[in-house]
Amino acid sequence: VADIKSGPDEGLSRVGQTLVVMGWVRTLRAQSSVTFIEVNDGSCLSNMQCVMNSDAEGYDQIESGLITTGASIWIQGTLVESQGSKQKVELKADKIVMVGKSDPSYPIQKKRVSREFLRTKAHLRPRTNTFGAVARVRNALAFATHKFFQENGFVWISSPIITASDCEGAGEQFCVTTLIPTSGEAADSPINAIPKTKDGSIDWSQDFFGKPAFLTVSGQLNAETYATALSDVYTFGPTFRAENSNTSRHLAEFWMIEPELAFADLNDDMACATAYLQYVVKHILENCKEDMDFFNTWIEKGIIDRLSAVVESEVVQLTYTDAVELLLKANKTFEFPVKWGCDLQSEHERYITEEAFGGCPVIIRDYPKEIKAFYMRQNDDGKTVAAMDMLVPRIGELIGGSQREERLEYLENRLDEMKLNKDSYWWYLDLRRYGSVPHAGFGLGFERLVQFATGMENIRDAIPFPRAPAAVID
Ligand code: 4AD
Ligand code: MG
Repeated sequence: VADIKSGPDEGLSRVGQTLVVMGWVRTLRAQSSVTFIEVNDGSCLSNMQCVMNSDAEGYDQIESGLITTGASIWIQGTLVESQGSKQKVELKADKIVMVGKSDPSYPIQKKRVSREFLRTKAHLRPRTNTFGAVARVRNALAFATHKFFQENGFVWISSPIITASDCEGAGEQFCVTTLIPTSGEAADSPINAIPKTKDGSIDWSQDFFGKPAFLTVSGQLNAETYATALSDVYTFGPTFRAENSNTSRHLAEFWMIEPELAFADLNDDMACATAYLQYVVKHILENCKEDMDFFNTWIEKGIIDRLSAVVESEVVQLTYTDAVELLLKANKTFEFPVKWGCDLQSEHERYITEEAFGGCPVIIRDYPKEIKAFYMRQNDDGKTVAAMDMLVPRIGELIGGSQREERLEYLENRLDEMKLNKDSYWWYLDLRRYGSVPHAGFGLGFERLVQFATGMENIRDAIPFPRAPAAVID
């Protein structure tokens, strides 16, 4: 259907052709002499309107009520100019075949259903306009992501999903273990079956990897190993966090894009983040027009103007110290009072992007070292690190990045200060021992980008199968 309707003449030049459409019935209206069937094949938002007389082959299946909303059909006919005002062309059908019937209990009826309800039907929600559009725009953003980095000479690296290190040091990892039996007799009493050492603690030596293993929270440390060999690289894959935050912007399983730039500092990093964001936003504005119009009308009024402004304007940059000053001067009482050294809460981030800078992305840089991860490069003031976060309205932090500490002695000191075990970072320290270079990178939460680009309010609606605390998982 997209193939027919996406041309500048919306299919008119193909009038007269015999076509077959295969898809799912959105609506079916039987009038006395003709029946209108709206079929959607998922290739685009538009349905193909099919018009059918009672002499068409297979019409009995409509007459007997066999073909209903949700059924899959194969329909053949001639493309004709439409009499209706909603579309330029329609299919004058001469043959219909029902491929799969739809039980009357089909939950996705024409009337609007809530997003909460649809989250309990994650297997059927892609059949709605909204989730079809989100899936296509998400796909376009993924394509544009690879396109941007490939065109700029970055090499895509697959970072491991199972890992022993906690990149962010926030203790939010999911443990991966085979110590808990899931089948056989032992599964009846898995707790008793876990092997213990003499002192009663878990005997990890008997686990699959011989030590505790986790799902990765970030591929950054692995990306750094390749950046210090191949120069610019990026990862794009799933990451996991057992953050118990039941918010509209946190998932337990989310996709992250993590470029790592060699021979680069924080300014290069911020420039890359800005160019990347502008590139992918421009890509969807140009290539997903129909879906973007849909979001503009039904999900967030004005989103097209908001995104167009992102493509055209510079991203505001300010230091953490200036941001704190701005918040202190704000004529506003925050739930979490602000003072230098505090982590910015989402109310602060929202004030900065939504009120202080009128709804555009803002980059905050040079955060206090105490609130940031061990790997960030210390600034000359000894108090701050070369970190940057890009904040966007509604969502808050879209990107988190930094210049990395490339000086061995600084990094070792920092690990000591933070009471992290140097031995377990031996390979990471090696990168500073053998041909270290200034390098920098960032992580962008892909679902937050999807939210930003579609206007979807809840991150659970920006990924096909959301995993979050107490979410439905099958
Ligand atoms: O700021 P974060 O924790 O940074 C890192 O993980 C770095 N190692 C990235 C790097 O420099 N290579 O996470 C990066 C981004 C956040 O800005 C946010 O967009 C997203 O990942 N993010 C989440 N998205 C959804 N659900 C969650 N629970 C998220 N936690 C972080
Ligand atoms: Mg962060």
